[in-house]
Amino acid sequence: MGTAATSRPTTPAFPVWVLWSCLALVSGSAPGQPQGAERWKLLSDDRLHDPASPAIGVLQEPGEALSLMPPDLVGNKVNWVRALREGYIAPRAKVLEDTTVKLLDSKVIMMNTGEMPLVVFPHLTHTEWLDCSNCHEGIFKSEAGATPVNMFQILQGRYCGRCHGAVSFPLTECRRCHSMSRSELKTR
Ligand code: HEC
Ligand code: HEC
Ligand code: HEC
Repeated sequence: MGTAATSRPTTPAFPVWVLWSCLALVSGSAPGQPQGAERWKLLSDDRLHDPASPAIGVLQEPGEALSLMPPDLVGNKVNWVRALREGYIAPRAKVLEDTTVKLLDSKVIMMNTGEMPLVVFPHLTHTEWLDCSNCHEGIFKSEAGATPVNMFQILQGRYCGRCHGAVSFPLTECRRCHSMSRSELKTR
């Protein structure tokens, strides 16, 4: 499979500091700061499980399983892309026998990024976890540039923010999405 790249047109953008302030409000903490201090909370202390429940003591502690995975500094401190690719986990891809798993190895370069590096959206990584219908045509139209995305809306939980910051790596990780410099684009 070859890798194709599609570019999108550019429009003016907001200054980066506005977004940082916005992010500080959303996350309630200093953006970009590694949260390595407390690794995984015990189930009895996570404020999600009832510490008085008899299930505590029967359930596996998150740290027991997650500390064996490729580490990350943010989110639940596992690099899930590596965990899947390096065979640490092998989730069942389908429930129904006749479902076809579709992988797509193409990248979309998104250029309305103001002073930030360009965003490279990798289809392959996403289709290893998700079905086309998780994104198309609901969250994104399957046409480069057809969906007007911006960072404020992402921070408010739309577009990429439907998953990033919720179930996939957090929005404080600017460089994982904004990964291509403009000079790199020119030399392609
Ligand atoms: C996690 C979300 C997500 C998933 C899953 C996903 N896509 Fe996309 N797709 C996007 C985004 C984002 C764009 C860029 C949209 C834009 O530029 O406005 C895009 C663009 C496209 C495009 C147009 C750009 C191009 O490269 O030609 C096609 C075609 C496409 N997707 C097909 C698919 C197919 C087929 C699948 C499943 C195998 C799939 N997509 C899975 C998010 C997704
Ligand atoms: C999950 C991926 C992702 C992460 C993480 C992310 N961005 Fe973005 N960002 C985008 C996308 C997608 C766009 C829209 C690009 C387009 O439409 O061409 C964007 C656009 C922007 C823009 C352009 C102006 C605007 O309002 O849209 C700026 C500036 C920006 N991001 C800053 C940041 C900063 C700072 C961070 C880290 C605190 C960050 N981004 C993290 C995906 C991301
Ligand atoms: C439907 C859910 C969903 C949406 C929407 C989504 N992502 Fe993701 N993304 C994931 C998952 C799941 C992973 C893999 C697990 C992880 O890294 O947390 C991932 C991983 C990534 C990676 C990591 C690739 C690597 O090799 O490490 C990048 C970059 C990324 N997403 C960018 C984006 C951008 C940019 C957008 C919006 C244009 C977006 N994603 C929208 C779910 C989503």
